Amino acid sequence: MSHLSESGNKLKKNVYDLTSSAQLEQVNELFSDVVVVVLPSGLSCGSSEHTLREIFRNVMSKLGSDATLVTIGMPPDLVAAHILVSDELRYHLWVAVKMPLNNIHLSMEQLPEHHFGILVHTRYQSSLRHTKTRIEYSYCPFCDRTTKDYGGKKHTYHEYGTLLSDVWRDIEVSLSGDLELVFERLQDLFGVSPYDKMLVLDFRASLDRKIVQCARWRDFTPLDMAVNSCGESRLIHGDCLEILQDLPSNSVDFIFADPPYNLRKKYAGYNDSLEIADYFNWCDKWIAELARLLKPGRTLAILNIPLWSIRHFIFLKNVLEFQYWIAWDALSFPVRLIMPAHYAILCFSKGPPRSVLRESRDSSFSNCEGVSWNDPLIPMQEGACLRSDCITMRRRARMRDNGSLTDLWWDIHRLKHNSRRVDHPCQLPPQLMFRLISIFSKQNEMVLDPFNGAGTTTLCAELLKRRYIGIENSLMYHELAASRHKELGCGLNPFRKEEKLLSAKNSPVRRLPKQKYEVSKKALQMEIKRIAGVLGRLPKREEVAEMGKFPLRFYEEYFVSWGEVCAAARTTGMQERRGKPKTSTAVGRQDHPAQLTLISK
Ligand SMILES: C[S@@+](CC[C@H](N)C(=O)[O-])C[C@H]1O[C@@H](n2cnc3c(N)ncnc32)[C@H](O)[C@@H]1O
Repeated sequence: MSHLSESGNKLKKNVYDLTSSAQLEQVNELFSDVVVVVLPSGLSCGSSEHTLREIFRNVMSKLGSDATLVTIGMPPDLVAAHILVSDELRYHLWVAVKMPLNNIHLSMEQLPEHHFGILVHTRYQSSLRHTKTRIEYSYCPFCDRTTKDYGGKKHTYHEYGTLLSDVWRDIEVSLSGDLELVFERLQDLFGVSPYDKMLVLDFRASLDRKIVQCARWRDFTPLDMAVNSCGESRLIHGDCLEILQDLPSNSVDFIFADPPYNLRKKYAGYNDSLEIADYFNWCDKWIAELARLLKPGRTLAILNIPLWSIRHFIFLKNVLEFQYWIAWDALSFPVRLIMPAHYAILCFSKGPPRSVLRESRDSSFSNCEGVSWNDPLIPMQEGACLRSDCITMRRRARMRDNGSLTDLWWDIHRLKHNSRRVDHPCQLPPQLMFRLISIFSKQNEMVLDPFNGAGTTTLCAELLKRRYIGIENSLMYHELAASRHKELGCGLNPFRKEEKLLSAKNSPVRRLPKQKYEVSKKALQMEIKRIAGVLGRLPKREEVAEMGKFPLRFYEEYFVSWGEVCAAARTTGMQERRGKPKTSTAVGRQDHPAQLTLISK
């Protein structure tokens, strides 16, 4: 797979293989541009933690005021690295990079590790300096259309590929092997002024192998704890911190928490913009309660953005055992130079974890009308598209399109269409909850969600024949979840598609009223592209009024911003089927072939 970086200069790379932090003294270079630190798996564990501290103490003492620090490693090691640098550096990104699977992994009864991470911090405080980089489209091996369905917006996308996101699944590299593909991408991504060089400090040879072994698969001693019962299924309206205190210790089989992210979402009855220290104090309190409620050997899973997950990890590792860092690539559409696309689902167990994959193969759905889901434990093959016509064709032709269940999930979309949503600003897709509940619990066991929102978790639990407790602070959402459970009791699919008029929104962009378009939005955007072609730049409103064949009011009424009006004019347009790229007619592009760097695997 390849990438394209716009108007950058590939950085010169210098690699140093180091076995100890003391060897950093021999690196006779300025740490002023891009510094990449590669960590072996397990360096944050046991006695090696000292080595990790020394490495970052040394690197930080040399790091220049304009420098970018990139740290490559397994999630627990990156968490430890973040703690060591975050007082002085600004955090920008956590990228999940796909690792190859091997047969040993696949025969295990645990989810195989399928990704490592790249953390990006800078000494400077402004937004991240990097090139606009695109990843070549991938195509469904069954229908030969782009893996992602771009719907009616193809004219607003680039012919080469989609903007880079924070999940790199197009390359597959082992953390212990050759990282050249990652280095090349970083050389292009950060090839902007004032940078010239990329210094790679590779510490992978620095670790005692015994410690790597004990980092992840050590033998746990079983916990001797009395297991309690917390009764029958119920939805509870109230503050989870108060409610949780009344539930018995060691009584819940699986706990899932999707807390508010403190990102100023508009919840009914909850302030989602606390001071960050207050937010984490509050999180630590409910996490401690959830750890108390969990039965021995069972799992607490917390969904959050990667940066907040780092902080949860630090608290969780004091009370529970690390089990998985699941990277959920939620398949968002490109919006920023490096688009944030993934969430972390942190899984910690109380003492030794169960063999989750052996014990969970009992997911059977009730006969609820209209519910026909795939087995949540069998993901689709990587690259296969999620278009319903293609899936139907594959089923009819009995084509094998299964992939492996690992800790990298890419086959579940965020809820995008209003027809699938109810009036809650951030519902999760039911497929995500079907999968988590199926992995971590069995029929009749108890599933708890302290932030139940519109009831996605508890509804999926009921469909999977689990008992459930769903706590929700807002009366409005509590009643919404209760009414959906009632529907389910009457045999109606609570996740059915329906035309609805919603007031809740998941994005700050204003919602336009439902309207009939006299001219299609695509025709309007293509007209702007035509005008831009004549002018040699993006047009202003007055120029569209003067030169365009459609009234200006169409643009004002049908689009949320002038940026959206000009979306097609800024790019080349793409085609869904594999084929030759079209010749570019976009305006203001600097990415003609001479200026592009193309890296092919
Ligand atoms: C991110 S949403 C969860 C959405 C849910 N996963 C779904 O799919 O519908 C977080 C929810 O937590 C609720 N909430 C916030 N503070 C709470 C508290 N102290 N106790 C219980 N619920 C709370 C909010 O009202 C919101 O509905």
